[in-house]
Amino acid sequence: MTTKFERDFVVLVLGIETSCDETAAAIVDDQRRIWVDRVLSQTEDHKPFGGVVPEIAARSHLDHIDRLIAEALAQTGLKLDDLDAIAATCGPGLIGGVMVGATMGKAIALAAKKPFVAVNHLEGHALTPRLTHDIDFPYLLLLASGGHAQILAVLGVGQYRRLGTTIDDAMGEAFDKVAKMAGLGHPGGPQVERAAQTGDPARFALPRPLKGRPGCDFSFSGLKNAVRLVVESLPRPLSPQDQADLCASFQQAVTDSVAERTTNAIVQFKQHWPVGTHLVVAGGVAANAKLRDTLSLLSHRHGLSFLAPPLSLCTDNGAMIAWAGIERFRLGLTDGLDFAPRPRWPLDPDATQIRP
Ligand code: KG4
Ligand code: ZN
Repeated sequence: MTTKFERDFVVLVLGIETSCDETAAAIVDDQRRIWVDRVLSQTEDHKPFGGVVPEIAARSHLDHIDRLIAEALAQTGLKLDDLDAIAATCGPGLIGGVMVGATMGKAIALAAKKPFVAVNHLEGHALTPRLTHDIDFPYLLLLASGGHAQILAVLGVGQYRRLGTTIDDAMGEAFDKVAKMAGLGHPGGPQVERAAQTGDPARFALPRPLKGRPGCDFSFSGLKNAVRLVVESLPRPLSPQDQADLCASFQQAVTDSVAERTTNAIVQFKQHWPVGTHLVVAGGVAANAKLRDTLSLLSHRHGLSFLAPPLSLCTDNGAMIAWAGIERFRLGLTDGLDFAPRPRWPLDPDATQIRP
């Protein structure tokens, strides 16, 4: 150790995340200590386009990632030599951005002669509850992000069984599109949640997708369409009250639907993995307080404990990638520098593909 710090841990990993519109680097140790967690959001770069533009994202990651890593090291006083491994998101995500982070991670691993860990971004989200809390496998995970809506049984590192997924849009995508229709900015989730605070969730009758159907799949496109019809029936631009009522009604419909689908998943999970004790949420949409509160009540009603990471660890960050790197490194699961970045990378490759 070349720093002033006592080494009271075994594994220290640098995590790099560039799969969407956050450039992030973090250093975490196996005692769950986050030494540094730097996240640079590109929200302003994409704002004029109302959504993430892949080429702009990749260019911006390229412009900032080396400085961010250098600052992370400087901030902690750590040297590359203090690290035990370098972890980088290698998919799924916007491939241009993924390549920037993966290549940077490999280059550092090569230069510093450290092992490289190729991390699945979704596994980063899925293992975050073990970074924040001392919980054992198996647990039930609701993964709700800008690109995904899935319910998985997390059985171990690299071991996932998908119980349900979206048959159309991702959950965060639905929030983002509704925000756009309501005349709110990007990213939509936080804006919808903020607007909903002063709205009437019962003003607009919106559908609860897949209600009463067996299984744990999700659907959001019909709900999104229903929101579009409401918007078209209102005077535009929407008044602040209309915006608030629309957002509250939408948020309520999503929450009701997710609660119903998650109830089915809890029943399945308890049948197959009765030793499991927790329902956890992860991914950007897990930042939504209404959803968290509802799922918390639901878990307790079904005899499970509920866990939601702090907001900063729900949305994309480097700490979750570093932690997934630690979990894999401890099991000897390191990767070669020829590991190919990939735009698609399911956590459960055996799950039935609903859409090709
Ligand atoms: O996990 P994440 O940071 O990036 C992906 O891997 O996709 O998730 C981003 C998504 C966006 O769609 C954003 O609108 C949504 O999470 N989100 C929220 C909230 N905060 C972020 N959705 C609902 N309520 C929120 N408070
Ligand atoms: Zn994510």
